Amino acid sequence: MFDFINISKRFKTDFWVKPVIALDSVSFKLQPGTITGFLGANGAGKTTCLKILLGFISQDSGQIEFSNRLGLGLKKFEKIGFFPERPYFYPDLTGREFLEFMGQITNVEKTRRNKNIGMWSAKLKIDQALNRKIRAYSKGMLQRLGLIAAIIHDPELIILDEPMAGLDPIGRKEFKDIFVQLWKEGRTVFFSSHIVSDIEEICSKVIVLEKGKALYQGDIDRLLLSGQSNEEKWELKTNNYINSIGIHKPIQILENKATFQFNKQEVKEVLKYISENNVEIQSLSCLRPSLEEIIYKIKS
Ligand SMILES: Nc1ncnc2c1ncn2[C@@H]1O[C@H](COP(=O)(O)OP(=O)(O)O)[C@@H](O)[C@H]1O
Ligand SMILES: [Mg+2]
Repeated sequence: MFDFINISKRFKTDFWVKPVIALDSVSFKLQPGTITGFLGANGAGKTTCLKILLGFISQDSGQIEFSNRLGLGLKKFEKIGFFPERPYFYPDLTGREFLEFMGQITNVEKTRRNKNIGMWSAKLKIDQALNRKIRAYSKGMLQRLGLIAAIIHDPELIILDEPMAGLDPIGRKEFKDIFVQLWKEGRTVFFSSHIVSDIEEICSKVIVLEKGKALYQGDIDRLLLSGQSNEEKWELKTNNYINSIGIHKPIQILENKATFQFNKQEVKEVLKYISENNVEIQSLSCLRPSLEEIIYKIKS
């Protein structure tokens, strides 16, 4: 979809202060037809990359090559949808007026505009609120409105900066379902996040940014599993108190609940114990590495 080539960017805030190196020769490629995650801690440089990509600010050096399928010159922005990290909404417009406006400036004709507004607002359950002024919207509703605004013109490439920040678990799930739906329709989705599990759940590809450098790009499975599949940790939480499973002692006991951790190879043995001893399971899950662990692993 695009090729981000050796992009560097420094911010100078004051004459006397040393400039901040936000991006240091960052290169990556976005594969068409994927959901790709842009993973990095706060301050890694994700927003700066996206702002440069969309032309809101300019890079100090490096270049961006967009694929021809997006069209040439400014034309390509008709095929790109963007959800900013801090969207601005006109508080005196109603939700519907705002979406109408966004549809008009992206050249969506009336019938398609109405169809898309109706479909997405119903899907995101804000259809009942569309005639209310935006100032009365909750944070979650604003985010849903922002998502619809980003996709109202059926873009081929959808870029979202921390789209799920501040959403409750239901909202996160709704957003992820929509990203998957858009991808199934053949669109390319690229979103930033600092939460590994959000990216892991729906992305096949990931680009990892740390302190202004691109550390990794490629398959997410390879990143999460490589070199550690045998060390994979599993966790069992029980709803009744058990003082041991084989050689394993609980790592945590809360009233009458216990938590155990064990390796992948021990899962079968634990399952056998569970079925033979009437253990009430609260959850059994594979523990995923944290962002810090992932970055540590890439570097080592
Ligand atoms: N307009 C700006 N002026 C000065 N510093 C900035 C500006 N924008 C970003 N930065 C700095 O650049 C770095 C990267 O920021 P950002 O791209 O927002 O990271 P992320 O989106 O990954 O959290 C941070 O150190 C941030 O403070
Ligand atoms: Mg950011």
